[in-house]
Amino acid sequence: MKRWEAWSFHILTLIVTVSGIVYFWMKYLLKTDDPFSVINHPGQPAMLKTHILAAPLFILAAGIMINSHIVKKLQNKSAQPIACQASSRSSPSRLWSHPGTCCRPSQLPP
Ligand code: HEM
Repeated sequence: MKRWEAWSFHILTLIVTVSGIVYFWMKYLLKTDDPFSVINHPGQPAMLKTHILAAPLFILAAGIMINSHIVKKLQNKSAQPIACQASSRSSPSRLWSHPGTCCRPSQLPP
């Protein structure tokens, strides 16, 4: 996975989540004094625009991340997680191991 893929996924996750929560607060929790207003906060339309513009980009970034991070690792059966590469012979970390792919004695560092 490339750095820009990881960063765009993280940033878009943040934008979609924050804009969704703030929009929820503005729409359902704030009360306006103006009886004729259809919005509760001047920033409410902008927050909704941000949310629905970022949401499809978030789905795209998630798809790119799933392809380059998860699917490639599932296909590459010999890939070893870093936790296993760094583990010592005396205390091999089996936390990240998958059956048949990691932490066999022959794969541990000398
Ligand atoms: C933590 C994540 C999210 C939160 C907290 C959140 C929150 C919200 C809220 C409060 C609304 C307004 C609902 C209403 O009008 O009653 C909304 C609308 C919407 N959200 Fe999200 N959302 C999240 C993630 C997503 C994602 C991942 C997508 C798309 C993939 C998405 C797409 C939309 C769309 C299309 C609308 C409709 C806007 C409209 O027509 O009024 N949201 N969201």
